Amino acid sequence: MPHLYLLFHILGVCMLLTTIIVSPIFERNIRKASDKNVALTYHRLFRQIGLLSPFGSLIILGSGIANMYYLGFGVFSQGWLTAKIILFAVLVVNGGMINPPLMRKRMNLLEQMAEADSSGDAHATLARYNRQQSIYLLVQSAIVVVILSLSVFKPV
Ligand code: HEM
Repeated sequence: MPHLYLLFHILGVCMLLTTIIVSPIFERNIRKASDKNVALTYHRLFRQIGLLSPFGSLIILGSGIANMYYLGFGVFSQGWLTAKIILFAVLVVNGGMINPPLMRKRMNLLEQMAEADSSGDAHATLARYNRQQSIYLLVQSAIVVVILSLSVFKPV
């Protein structure tokens, strides 16, 4: 049974990692598309693929708790596990609070830019959203790499 939970855990991790790995590819294509309708198509696809992350996170959480139960671990019994749970909470809160409104705002702006000739202001706002998205993706990727390292090396 613990192996089954571990298998689900890894499946959830793969779902989450997929969204992290494809992010720079979509970001690059959204940003370099000169036709805003093309940028919008990439953006919509990116949002749909991004849906893997909340489902992956739910599977990770459920299977992680089941793993803890079967291994007899409490929240504070292993340092690496405590750190992992805290970082996972930060990851989920960031993912739930920062990304959806940012993606929505950028998509609305791209829709406006696709319909009418865009002003310098619109370009400046788009550049600001792109910068915010880059920072967000860097932070989330770094957190995931730290969690993965804690899981594999179990340093404390
Ligand atoms: C992004 C989040 C997470 C990632 C990338 C991740 C990754 C992993 C990996 C790769 C393993 C396999 C390690 C091994 O077999 O040596 C593992 C095991 C485990 N994870 Fe996670 N995990 C995450 C979140 C969580 C959470 C939130 C919990 C608890 C609620 C949790 C609890 C566990 C437990 C108990 C094990 C089994 C450890 C063992 O066999 O000694 N994980 N995790």
